[in-house]
Amino acid sequence: MKNSLYFDEVSSESFIKETSIETGSVGFYNLPEQKIDKILEFAKSVKHKNVVVIGIGGSSLGAEAIYSFLNSKNHYDKKLLFLDTTDPIVIENRLASIDINSTLFMIISKSGTTVESISILKYLDEKRKFDRDNLIVITDKGSPLEKFGESRNLNIFHIPNNVGGRYSVLSVVGLVPLAVIGINIKELLKGAKELKERFFSEKDNHILAKKSTYYSKISEQYSSNCLFSYSEVFRGFNSWYVQLWAESLGKKQIHSTMNVGLTPIGLIGPTDQHSFLQLIMEGKADKTVTVLKIKDFGTDISVPDISLPYLEKLDIANNIKFADLINLQAESTIEALDKIGVPLDVITLESIGEKSIGELIYYYELLTALVARQLDINAYDQPGVELGKIILKDKMAKS
Ligand code: PA5
Repeated sequence: MKNSLYFDEVSSESFIKETSIETGSVGFYNLPEQKIDKILEFAKSVKHKNVVVIGIGGSSLGAEAIYSFLNSKNHYDKKLLFLDTTDPIVIENRLASIDINSTLFMIISKSGTTVESISILKYLDEKRKFDRDNLIVITDKGSPLEKFGESRNLNIFHIPNNVGGRYSVLSVVGLVPLAVIGINIKELLKGAKELKERFFSEKDNHILAKKSTYYSKISEQYSSNCLFSYSEVFRGFNSWYVQLWAESLGKKQIHSTMNVGLTPIGLIGPTDQHSFLQLIMEGKADKTVTVLKIKDFGTDISVPDISLPYLEKLDIANNIKFADLINLQAESTIEALDKIGVPLDVITLESIGEKSIGELIYYYELLTALVARQLDINAYDQPGVELGKIILKDKMAKS
């Protein structure tokens, strides 16, 4: 075992080949091709007005990311809420905002032993004895939660064994709640599939090039990666990205005793252009930036063609659509960062739709897996998070 950083130069061709081999054992790669008939059939049968997901981390962040992205532009008949925290104020407030008698609850936990999620389940079970009509279970085959579900004769959806928590949004973990509220999960998977095909047929080298940038830069000074997302609709996505990146890429190397890591930073453009940008421009030069933009916001509201007294100089904004204004802000940030040589790339989504977000999710999962392999890290375990879980259970037992 080396006690210096382990580096292994691998050609792009062997990288794609090795990734292809990994698709045989790592489940998330193959989720775009899964059968979804059962999910769609179940979704059709749900008549409740509200859906509440009880889950934390990888069991909720992905669905939240997709829901908050799409919900900004679409109207869904059912309301989707997440109980993803033990914060008592949030639990009370979220439950107060719905009629729990017309709510379908979904307890989602891969391990089926996460104490935070099970505690919320117990709290609700006392209020509203759970049965087949108001609760479903999404978990691994053989977990204690599956057994609980069987004891109450609940509908149970199984998470594929080889799909890790933070890579599970395109499995039943994300698809069941999203399909139930009316999101087109076929399109979601179609976006992911198209990205996958482009990558494996080597038509999309952007991901490989980006992976190499992160690799070469970690040996230099760039260890933080900012995702500068130019729309509020990406807030949930930013949180999902932070989890995926941090929990997958902060580890000890496999072939050395060295700790490595890339630090994810999620920013929202219009706001953080007026705050965090300063730190990137003139603070420690240790950050790369990805700007995430939307081409078509699907709205034409614009700055009216009027002058306000004393503010005439700002008439330069007159007649500009807000959708163009936000993208001009993004262009300005890009130009400013470019001027000082910050490593930078841009991702532009066509519109706010299922296919776009499906593609983006798969893009980041793939990128994370590639960067991890190049950094000599296991992308799929999380010993640090597991230790926190053990300590918490220990403290609870003693309290
Ligand atoms: O990615 C992970 O493994 C974690 O973030 C888990 O998703 C999180 O700890 C929740 O675990 P579980 O789904 O077992 O309740």
